[in-house]
Amino acid sequence: MTFLGNQFQYKIWFIFLVLNRSKTVLVIGDHKFPCYFIFGDSLVDVGNNNELNTGAKANYLPYGIDFPQGPTGRFCNGLLAVDYVAKGLGFKEFIPPYATVKEEDVLTGVNYGSAGSGILEESGDNLGEHFGFDKQILHHKNVVSKIETLHGNKTYTQYYLKKCLYTINIGSNDYINNYFAPKVLDKPHDLTPEQFATALISKFSQNIILLYELGARKFTIAEIPQVGFSLAEIRLCANNISCVTEINYASSIFNAKQRTLLDELDNNLTEAKFVVPDFNIPTSALLQFNGDY
Ligand SMILES: *[C@@H]1O[C@H](CO)[C@@H](O)[C@H](O)[C@H]1NC(C)=O
Ligand SMILES: *[C@@H]1O[C@H](CO)[C@@H](O)[C@H](O)[C@H]1NC(C)=O
Ligand SMILES: *[C@@H]1O[C@H](CO)[C@@H](O)[C@H](O)[C@H]1NC(C)=O
Repeated sequence: MTFLGNQFQYKIWFIFLVLNRSKTVLVIGDHKFPCYFIFGDSLVDVGNNNELNTGAKANYLPYGIDFPQGPTGRFCNGLLAVDYVAKGLGFKEFIPPYATVKEEDVLTGVNYGSAGSGILEESGDNLGEHFGFDKQILHHKNVVSKIETLHGNKTYTQYYLKKCLYTINIGSNDYINNYFAPKVLDKPHDLTPEQFATALISKFSQNIILLYELGARKFTIAEIPQVGFSLAEIRLCANNISCVTEINYASSIFNAKQRTLLDELDNNLTEAKFVVPDFNIPTSALLQFNGDY
């Protein structure tokens, strides 16, 4: 949920997104995205958890200390990567959270991100309520219906939704607040890291296909960071570096499988394009940031 080195990652993520944009996938001629839909965890949450019964919220100071409106629920002092992306793409407003979006504002996109959430619905239950990936997709389904109503035309809505950008940033909490949270949830521990990653990828794949069926075509899908360096895991490992390494190894299995999956989906879902921003950050940089946190 809460990562060390967040801001560092944001910068890297944004740089890669921009690089990819200028190369191939995300910008075609003068094409502009009419809307931007965002799915994921605390790295993209802009306030969807504010009214939930959970420890995973950030709508109080010092969160938002550098944000124009103060605390909003963003797990950050200022703007999130997705805010920079929205700005960079020319959106006039930040993409609003699903929890409070006004009906007429859904046309330019919605942010469904929920801190603590994962690919598996139960991931993050140790922190309290959250909207897991399945719920986020249900929310998107509601929004798609609203857009159809606003456009008054299903055919046009499908054409419109295909032009939008879809960012997905999820999976860390399946490790931090599920697989490696032994006292909370026992079940995944029957699985090896390899088997657990396979289960996650299978669920993730179904969800990407659902989004595709709802009109999503242009995806940016983040890798998960080296979760062993999160505060929770460092605490769990009690400074045992091999324990941290083991956790990072488990998350690297997920990333490798995700890449294979996206290659496969790139073939199977003929109109889909996937961009994977590179989150890999030198260990030394993360540890250095650690010390400052
Ligand atoms: C729906 O929109 C398309 C594209 O703008 C248009 O060609 C078509 O006539 C519209 N259909 C209806 C029923 O309004
Ligand atoms: C450190 O972590 C490794 C891997 O989890 C474990 O095998 C080892 O027993 C731990 N060492 C100590 C001193 O706890
Ligand atoms: C891609 O299509 C092949 C052939 O239909 C199928 O076997 C495979 O499971 C599909 N992959 C995914 C990730 O859906």
